[in-house]
Amino acid sequence: MQFNTPAGQNLFDDAKVVGKPTTRIDGPLKVTGTAPYAYERHDVAEGQLVGYPVLATIAKGRITSMDTDTAKAMPGVLDVITAPEVGEMPSPSDMNVAPLFGGKEIAQYHQAIAVVVAETFEQARAAAAKVQTEYEVDEIGSLDLQAAWEDVMDDRSDATRVGDFEAAFESAPVTIDKTYTTPSHSHAMMEPPASIAQWDDGKLTVWTSNQMIEWAQAALAKTFELDAEDVRVDSPYIGGGFGVKLFVRSDAILAAQAARRVGQAVKVAMPRPMVMNNTAHRASTIQRIRIGATRDGQITAIAHEAISHAMEGGSGENAIGQTRQFYAGDNRLIKMHLATMALPEENAMRAPGEAAGLMALEIAMDEMAEELGMDPVAFRVMNDTQVDPEDPDKPFSERNFVECLERGADAFGWADRNTAPGATRDGDWLIGHGLAGAYRGGPAMASGARIRLTPQGQVIVETAMTDIGTGSYTILAQTAAEVLGVTAEDVEVRLGDSSYPDSAGSGGQWGAASSTAGVYAAAVAMRQAIADHLGKDVEDLSFEDASVRTTDKQIPLAGLSDTEIVAEDSIEFGDFRSEQVVSTFGAHFVEVGVNAYTGETRLRRMLAVCDAGRILNPITARSQVIGGMVMGVGAALMEDAAIDTARGFFPAHDLAGYEVPVHADIPAQEVIFLDTLDPASTPLKAKGVGELGLCGVAAAVANAVYNATGVRVRDYPVTLDRFI
Ligand code: MOS
Repeated sequence: MQFNTPAGQNLFDDAKVVGKPTTRIDGPLKVTGTAPYAYERHDVAEGQLVGYPVLATIAKGRITSMDTDTAKAMPGVLDVITAPEVGEMPSPSDMNVAPLFGGKEIAQYHQAIAVVVAETFEQARAAAAKVQTEYEVDEIGSLDLQAAWEDVMDDRSDATRVGDFEAAFESAPVTIDKTYTTPSHSHAMMEPPASIAQWDDGKLTVWTSNQMIEWAQAALAKTFELDAEDVRVDSPYIGGGFGVKLFVRSDAILAAQAARRVGQAVKVAMPRPMVMNNTAHRASTIQRIRIGATRDGQITAIAHEAISHAMEGGSGENAIGQTRQFYAGDNRLIKMHLATMALPEENAMRAPGEAAGLMALEIAMDEMAEELGMDPVAFRVMNDTQVDPEDPDKPFSERNFVECLERGADAFGWADRNTAPGATRDGDWLIGHGLAGAYRGGPAMASGARIRLTPQGQVIVETAMTDIGTGSYTILAQTAAEVLGVTAEDVEVRLGDSSYPDSAGSGGQWGAASSTAGVYAAAVAMRQAIADHLGKDVEDLSFEDASVRTTDKQIPLAGLSDTEIVAEDSIEFGDFRSEQVVSTFGAHFVEVGVNAYTGETRLRRMLAVCDAGRILNPITARSQVIGGMVMGVGAALMEDAAIDTARGFFPAHDLAGYEVPVHADIPAQEVIFLDTLDPASTPLKAKGVGELGLCGVAAAVANAVYNATGVRVRDYPVTLDRFI
């Protein structure tokens, strides 16, 4: 199915199942501990052995020797496979920046250099500790982002420009010019990377934890020089990813390599202390923002320049993207710098770009509102735009940012706050209120599905979509149920297997919108298949109450056919979607207390208002947004993947050293969805919310801390030492 024009009126406009609060189909499996995560799939392959990774302890250089004799002689050990003996392997994909395994060259600290295969985990781990490695160590060079920034900050070659920023800023009556910093962040997902691999007659199967099945299949095929059809990837349950599982990681490569060598299934999990440096992180940034405005608050000039670090071939944290499109302003300058550094791989982490960029931009907007003596809601409302500021011929397909701000302000009681910083007290606590805008793209990707109608009337949906804890199983069941006139309980959804039709996967907040559109296409094909089976014209049929209605009779789906009816289709998105900007918007409001004596910041309440088209399921969507808000609190107050600048790695290696919020840190959270329709997005008129929920949250917290204390902190995380 092609999606070439905006969706007109369709069956979703009077939806019975889609958009209704539906609890997660996979919820009971998860809370009873019976959802089979990758490392726990004991039944998929006989005689599973355990592989334990050995990782490099230098950031840059090469292996000169590896002694595995002691390890190989230890109890239960079957083999030790080293990177130098395997030799260089093809990079799994263009998006995997660091080599995952193979060869002598070391490009990052904790690069995998060997895997020990043993009968038990304990045996493999004990032997791994006995592998002796010698290196030739290269100079790692500077890891000083501030120094790199000072070198390039005046270089504006290749900047994206509209109008004449310099002249407009120079002549603006009110201006700010501020610099902000964000540290590196770790995905810190609950489930570390894990894979079980097995070879059978030259064909590879990997049971793993991966967000993007098709990419993983292609990556494994490339690495092991196989045809894609000779690789099967299966990832039905994923304990979080936040982007680190967009690409295969070394667990999958090590498991496959080891399984091939020993001729038996091998499973490899990355122990938590290896995750921080072996996988990926969000890179730190320095961001300079200049805004010029008229006295009544109209932005006339806006510049966002930033630097981020990247390993050789990487792309850093693109912190400036949202500023190209979020606010109006005739004169604009946007520039991103990259500093190549010998740190582990930086790569996509939830809302890559916007998450870090809005941490700076939305403080800058608060500072500018204050400079103008304006309410920060009114300042943002005044600078709303309904067209792309860089390309005024290009409208936003749907943009209700003003409504997000106004409804949020109303629901939060924004007008009642004390605008004077540091002037509201509740016992020992200084009370503050803050807000921020949220912006994140609303992409859609080609997506397909197969639907089976069994003789018993059950609807089975198969698609290589994933559920990373987001609710995919549930919204896909709702979608098929809506089109085929059954209840969500009548639908069984099967995900994560590369033998199912290709799907968009879970990334870039495109998963929900894309995969439901793919299932819609397959369900429409199923309607046609049923019509063909009955020898009827599909227009003469209606689907309701688990039956097909023709003009004269009602035929239950159960018993409709003696054999299974199978239909398959996919959706592709035409160019018209790119003729407009399809994005999502939001506003975050928070109240904090800052302890007047200790400087400790506690959240007191949080509110998000989200504009993301149709909300497919208010329960799962809300869970996505409140999860994003929790992550935003982490970014605001705690998370800091500090760098050992002498050795080129992140010393924090667990969830004690890398602090993330826990339940006790999170107060009442409220989410309001505008729940409108975006006909340019998909046939369901839906967009993603999974990344939107994070965007802007940290700045709202920082702005609230300013309102509480009168101390403007421009460096994250906003820890108590910043108030001194
Ligand atoms: Mo997302 S960072 O594309 O998982």
